[in-house]
Amino acid sequence: MYRIAPSLLSADFARLGEEVRNVVASGADWIHFDVMDNHYVPNLTVGPLVCEAIRPHTSAPIDVHLMVKPVDRIIPDFARAGANIITFHPEASEHIDRSLGLIRDSGCQAGLVFNPATPLHHMDHVMDKLDVVLLMSVNPGFGGQKFIPETLNKLRAARDRIDAYEARSGRRILLEIDGGVKTDNIAEIARAGADTFVAGSAVFGAGRDEDPNRYDSIIGALRGELVRVAA
Ligand code: DX5
Ligand code: ZN
Repeated sequence: MYRIAPSLLSADFARLGEEVRNVVASGADWIHFDVMDNHYVPNLTVGPLVCEAIRPHTSAPIDVHLMVKPVDRIIPDFARAGANIITFHPEASEHIDRSLGLIRDSGCQAGLVFNPATPLHHMDHVMDKLDVVLLMSVNPGFGGQKFIPETLNKLRAARDRIDAYEARSGRRILLEIDGGVKTDNIAEIARAGADTFVAGSAVFGAGRDEDPNRYDSIIGALRGELVRVAA
């Protein structure tokens, strides 16, 4: 019912394959892979080569979050590198419908990402091409920022749109949240409608177990909060 997607942005980049194996062994559902270009966002991270390098380390879905502009040129590269889900920001594509189609045609699931101030209407006429809607609860570019509380209202609004769409189409769209997710707020974020939770610094930062290779306690704690919501 709920998915936890640790963001590699806060992992140890010198041991990325190991980090991926360990976090999945500790119960992660997806691997969230943040791609930044120092143009669309003021930071620079990793590209398809690194996605390809981690692919053999897990069978968990790799959730590629593109914070790059433009997006179309690089989409097939990520599909070939083993991405399962590819999401992008509407501001970063001149032709949103075309970019979504390109992702689907490359064999991946497609999603749109909404910055804190980006209105939700960008999803209205492309619902049939969406598998995921991702709401940013921080401004994109860096891990370790504070959750913006207004996102809870936006989540409820997105949940309503997605539920209405599901009722008329029978198709499910996931609602993912990214930024500042911790054990002390994940429950209220779930209650506001999110079903998929990115957590970077919470998992890879302070969350290391006594055994440095395990993330069981932090992922268990996040899931424990979610179990209480579902009950
Ligand atoms: C921010 C990235 C996030 C980031 C989240 O631009 O999209 O995925 O890693 O990090 P935390 O969970 O630390 O806010
Ligand atoms: Zn992200």
